[in-house]
Amino acid sequence: MTTRTITMLNGDGIGPEVMDATRKILEAARAPLEFEHAHIGAEAAARYGTNLPDATIDAVLKSGVGLKGPTATGIASGQQSANVALRKRLDLYASLRPVKSVPGVKTRYEGVDLVVVRENTEDLYAGLEHIVVPGVVESLKIITEKASTRICRFAFEYARKHGRKKVTAVHKANIMKLSDGLFLDCFRAVSRDFPGIAAEEVIVDNLCMQLVRNPERYDVMVMENLYGDIVSDLCAGLVGGLGLVPGANIGASSAVFEAAHGTAPDIMGKGLANPTALLLSSVMMLDHLDLPAEARRIEKALDTVFRDGRVKTRDLGGSASTAEFTQAIIDAMV
Ligand code: NAI
Repeated sequence: MTTRTITMLNGDGIGPEVMDATRKILEAARAPLEFEHAHIGAEAAARYGTNLPDATIDAVLKSGVGLKGPTATGIASGQQSANVALRKRLDLYASLRPVKSVPGVKTRYEGVDLVVVRENTEDLYAGLEHIVVPGVVESLKIITEKASTRICRFAFEYARKHGRKKVTAVHKANIMKLSDGLFLDCFRAVSRDFPGIAAEEVIVDNLCMQLVRNPERYDVMVMENLYGDIVSDLCAGLVGGLGLVPGANIGASSAVFEAAHGTAPDIMGKGLANPTALLLSSVMMLDHLDLPAEARRIEKALDTVFRDGRVKTRDLGGSASTAEFTQAIIDAMV
């Protein structure tokens, strides 16, 4: 089997700790991977004067796959967030966040199984703002046919590949008739190419209400950048929070897998971080690399440890350290 190179981007805060745990588990799962390290975030800023050096971009472009820890924003003052810059420079246009109930983690809901597909490159996040006159600021929302079509196609193709039944377009076209109207037009046009998958539309505020009442109503959801940012965190809350939710940012020629949580400065260096979110992101990465046996091996071991419930990190009400939790997963691997 060919060994694939993964570019490891540790990031800041608890990044190196959750990365180390994830790497140990990937190695124990006998995944045919080779790891190379590239710099991002505060560590990169201290060394290169920028939180995202060209060498890091080149490394991800060459390997095609990055595994990334969280990065702190506002460290290199005046610099754009390393996350936003990475997505822009690699044109990682699709943010993918599967949100699934975790066995043994008690929440208000059971059997949640949602996928949020978020457009990553435009909308109000284009960063086009200016002061019109003192006291009045204008912020531009950019929606294009090209990006909307691309993200809707991504959502339907994801649904087809993963045997999903329905894709819901989330919008506010009743108010933003032109911009969200264009997004919906693109969604409708793309949906015609996928007759086996139901296409549904819902207004974003109604969606939020429906999700907290009845999350099993939804399957794959596709939306513009800002709605996706908010709805994906809402969905993470349904299954126990950001510490449990994986993510990926995917482009035409590279993909970066990363947890949804931040650098957790309050627990940094204490050996208390929960590596589950990055580990589940690495499971997505294994599937992306067409390594399903290794992906399922890790998923099953994690499932065993959660169901057993004896070894849990503190954020989930347990007392295990990162190292103890990591070892429990390795021990549960068959
Ligand atoms: P945070 O996610 O870092 O922390 C929020 C709370 O959750 C803290 O109490 C933290 O201890 C806990 N927590 C987060 N991840 C955990 C884990 N894996 N295990 C155990 N507990 C965990 O959010 P916060 O404090 O708002 O942000 C801190 C920094 O992270 C900021 O600089 C922010 O910009 C950055 N950030 C980076 C992200 C990324 O790189 N993808 C995403 C979100 C925030």
